[in-house]
Amino acid sequence: MIPSIAIRPLEASFGAELSGLRIAGDVAEADFQAFLDAFHRHHVLLIRDVPNDPAAQVEFSRRMGKLEHHAAASAVHPQFPEVFCVGNYAADGITANFARGVEQWHADSSFREVPSAASLFYGAICPPEGGETWFLDAVAAYETLPETMKARIEGLRGVHCLYTLSEWNRRHTPGRPPMDEAKRRAFPPVAHPLVRTHPVSGVQSLFLCPAVISHIEGMGVEESAALIEELMDHATQERFVYRHRWREGDLVIWDNRCTLHTASLFDHEKYLRLMFRTTVAGTA
Ligand code: OGA
Ligand code: MN
Repeated sequence: MIPSIAIRPLEASFGAELSGLRIAGDVAEADFQAFLDAFHRHHVLLIRDVPNDPAAQVEFSRRMGKLEHHAAASAVHPQFPEVFCVGNYAADGITANFARGVEQWHADSSFREVPSAASLFYGAICPPEGGETWFLDAVAAYETLPETMKARIEGLRGVHCLYTLSEWNRRHTPGRPPMDEAKRRAFPPVAHPLVRTHPVSGVQSLFLCPAVISHIEGMGVEESAALIEELMDHATQERFVYRHRWREGDLVIWDNRCTLHTASLFDHEKYLRLMFRTTVAGTA
């Protein structure tokens, strides 16, 4: 059977728009495989005009693997615990997780022992301007590093820590409470290589989450921050970045193992934003 899916590259050096795929748990195997192939080839996929159906999003996401339950329990969807709600929306039993969208490049759940493989992010309510999500091709960013830098960072590991991220968020979003002790114990710091190898494709990419990494193993905090900043200056060049302007009904699926992403600002006093994220757990 010929899959009905069409694939069109995005206007960026990576990413593609996919059409003809229904988002549901019972998608035909051939279509799902075509989707997975496209996902591994393009790293970020956009699917437009997807109906607002969190149950279907959860079921489709499960086809990709086991789902994570988000660490910020207060922002999970009241009916679907696998759905993490993002934005400034607070109604219908939903209290979305609102962090001011200052640039904060990361891959999801890097603070876990096994970081997440993929995220599926759905635009339920999107502001007419701002609130874009930006993506960065961490493979190209690594490959284009000078050889001297590649040698310098080989074998180095960043220490990723949810508490570090929580304190960073508190500095940018006044009024957020500090992370409690129980959660701090549940998510102790974990070290991950600055250069990671993709478990499916084997390609290497930069794994940098400046607000989550407390320091690089064996280095002081300031020295670590300076190296990470130097790497981020390289990685965030326009040629590696895709900026997604959301339309309601967009579903964007990204590979956390070879891309980085960040939210961006929007006028949160003027506009509402509500996004649903499902997160596919990584495999060791
Ligand atoms: C996320 C995230 C970006 C955004 O939910 O993981 O990074 O644009 N969101 O809200
Ligand atoms: Mn994220």
